[in-house]
Amino acid sequence: MLEGKRIIVTGAARGMGEATLSAYVGSGANVVAMDINEKMGKAVVGKIHETGPGSAFFTHIDVADKNSVEQSFSKAVALLGGLDVLAHPAAIQAASGAVDVSVEHWDQMFAVNVRGTMLTNQAAYPYLKAEGGGAIINFGSISGQRAEPGAVAYSAAKGAVHSWTRSAAASWGKDGIRVNAILPAMATPMYEEAMSKLSEEATTAAFWMNHQSIALGNKYGDPLTDLGPVMVFFASDASRFITGQLIPVDGGQTNTR
Ligand SMILES: NC(=O)c1ccc[n+]([C@@H]2O[C@H](COP(=O)([O-])OP(=O)(O)OC[C@H]3O[C@@H](n4cnc5c(N)ncnc54)[C@H](O)[C@@H]3O)[C@@H](O)[C@H]2O)c1
Repeated sequence: MLEGKRIIVTGAARGMGEATLSAYVGSGANVVAMDINEKMGKAVVGKIHETGPGSAFFTHIDVADKNSVEQSFSKAVALLGGLDVLAHPAAIQAASGAVDVSVEHWDQMFAVNVRGTMLTNQAAYPYLKAEGGGAIINFGSISGQRAEPGAVAYSAAKGAVHSWTRSAAASWGKDGIRVNAILPAMATPMYEEAMSKLSEEATTAAFWMNHQSIALGNKYGDPLTDLGPVMVFFASDASRFITGQLIPVDGGQTNTR
């Protein structure tokens, strides 16, 4: 379905970025995988490249750093011979409360999650425009749509990602570029880490807040089987008339509460 597509995937060293990379290469695309974690990124890329039928290469990136983003994108586009799609799952998540969230925590959450989305999207824009259009797939969260008293900075940052996604879609539609955001609920290292830090009482509260409303089985999805095919659809021409949307891929979590 993606034969010949030239794609950048950020955050590809693990979790949904890794699953997206795997789905794209499995569908015949040529992909440059990027991550701040070079060791894990190279290992994942080596394994997926071997499997094919598409190809995968690794480039280091810090999505919060403008120079790093520009250099990595320029290198990737030279390698791929152009760009058709950017998938951007790279992000960080951590707990914080409204009373005592620090300026440092707030700024870090916004630097990686919000500035990182703006910088990667902006870096992709001229390359996609030069091809007459393409797709950008950002990552939002249910946390950006509801009150999240246990992770206030992450929630605010994801709300900003949703707003950016709509504005970028409105700005770049005339260039044939569609910009959407996936709002996932997937069992990944980010999810496992967040769960492992909870007390027994907080784990029970998390079940009622997050799992109980997942109509399809009361549990988070599998990135490879539940997200991969959706990422392929949004990278493909089959989604050519969809833009500016926040798409929950969450077993019903968002809408069956
Ligand atoms: N897991 C969930 O259920 C869930 C729910 C809602 C939203 N999300 C969002 O989905 C996306 C993917 O989440 P995941 O669970 O796969 O996360 P993850 O933590 O498993 O993977 C994130 C990847 O991003 C990389 N990364 C972090 N900071 C970076 C930086 N500055 N530059 C480059 N790479 C960086 C990490 O090294 C890691 O490989 C994120 O945007 C997350 O906020 C996840």
